[in-house]
Amino acid sequence: MSQLRLLKKPITNMSIPANSSATAAYDIVVVGSCMTDLVSFTPRLPKAGETIHGHKFFIGFGGKGANQCIQAARLGAKSTMVCKVGKDSFGENYIQNFKSNGVSTEYVGQTSEASTGVAPITVNDDGQNAIVIVAGANLLLNCEDLVRATNTIRSAKVVVCQLEIQPVISLEALKIAHGAGVKTIFNPAPAIADLDPDFYKNTDVFCCNETEAGILTGVEVASVEDATKAGSKLLEKGCTSVIVTLGAEGTLLMTQGQRAPLHIPTKNVKAVDTTGAGDSFVGALAFYMANYSCLDLEEMSRRACAIATISTQAQGTQASYPSRPQLPPELF
Ligand SMILES: Nc1ncnc2c1ncn2[C@@H]1O[C@H](COP(=O)(O)OP(=O)(O)O)[C@@H](O)[C@H]1O
Ligand SMILES: *[C@@H]1O[C@H](CO)[C@@H](O)[C@H](O)[C@H]1NC(C)=O
Ligand SMILES: *[C@@H]1O[C@H](CO)[C@@H](O)[C@H](O)[C@H]1NC(C)=O
Repeated sequence: MSQLRLLKKPITNMSIPANSSATAAYDIVVVGSCMTDLVSFTPRLPKAGETIHGHKFFIGFGGKGANQCIQAARLGAKSTMVCKVGKDSFGENYIQNFKSNGVSTEYVGQTSEASTGVAPITVNDDGQNAIVIVAGANLLLNCEDLVRATNTIRSAKVVVCQLEIQPVISLEALKIAHGAGVKTIFNPAPAIADLDPDFYKNTDVFCCNETEAGILTGVEVASVEDATKAGSKLLEKGCTSVIVTLGAEGTLLMTQGQRAPLHIPTKNVKAVDTTGAGDSFVGALAFYMANYSCLDLEEMSRRACAIATISTQAQGTQASYPSRPQLPPELF
């Protein structure tokens, strides 16, 4: 009954102006995925039908949405995650992980219809891997879940989405936010070639890596020049700014109606594990957009790069994300 009433309201209506509500509870809302990584280390990758023994195992927290949200929270942003996990031990543990990191779990749903998203990963002695992703509960995040979070999305400072949940849900979240004047960051990961054009129109900062820029534009990106070509194509599609992350080369920033593309190099470091570096970048950028809106996007990108680069100098995904007290004061 009450659900019907809720659904009848168009969820993009704009009766609640952005940032004016007394219940502006969170600076950053991430609508996205949670995944539990199950990582086995083995001498080699098993063949079909084969059983082999591994020598080490660990469970890690991942999922692009959750990674980004946790990086933002560790820097000090008031953050909440809109996502879905299973009614299983992985789901319970993930909820605890959010709480330990100061991320609100008000909009973390639990379903008995699917398991928590998992990624069993096998890594051999040469560092090659084989990965199975079972998105599970992530794909059950639905419109009703968004309706429940609508006022929170509308009163946020920044909303962040990716593509590890159903793309229509990410797009709807971006539309709700953009329609209410909330800044949006969209990270098209994993990339799909025929992305709905509305994603661009509802995005303030379109943040992708080289592979994703290539898939979305058909321009193979292997240099700053290539990234500039791809970036121009992405800007033409209607987002306000484009950031292409370039691994050890830093990032490229391009903004509508602004002079030259800006290559922002990052520190030269000895990277030990770059897994999740892109998510650290996106989470850090969201933090700066929410908490340091006085800075320009160039300076925000420079600082987000510095933070992502620090995350490459430690093992693990979320385990490598720095917190505010460990970071130099000039980043704040
Ligand atoms: N080898 C590296 N050395 C220094 N910084 C790195 C390195 N790899 C990644 N980074 C930092 O992480 C950011 C994102 O990395 P990138 O590899 O582009 O993302 P993704 O994780 O999506 O592949 C870069 O912009 C940079 O700041
Ligand atoms: C970010 O802003 C929130 C208020 O919305 C504040 O509580 C928090 O201290 C700020 N954090 C930083 C690191 O500036
Ligand atoms: C870019 O992100 C995709 C996920 O969308 C990932 O598979 C790929 O390895 C990343 N590419 C680079 C160059 O890091």
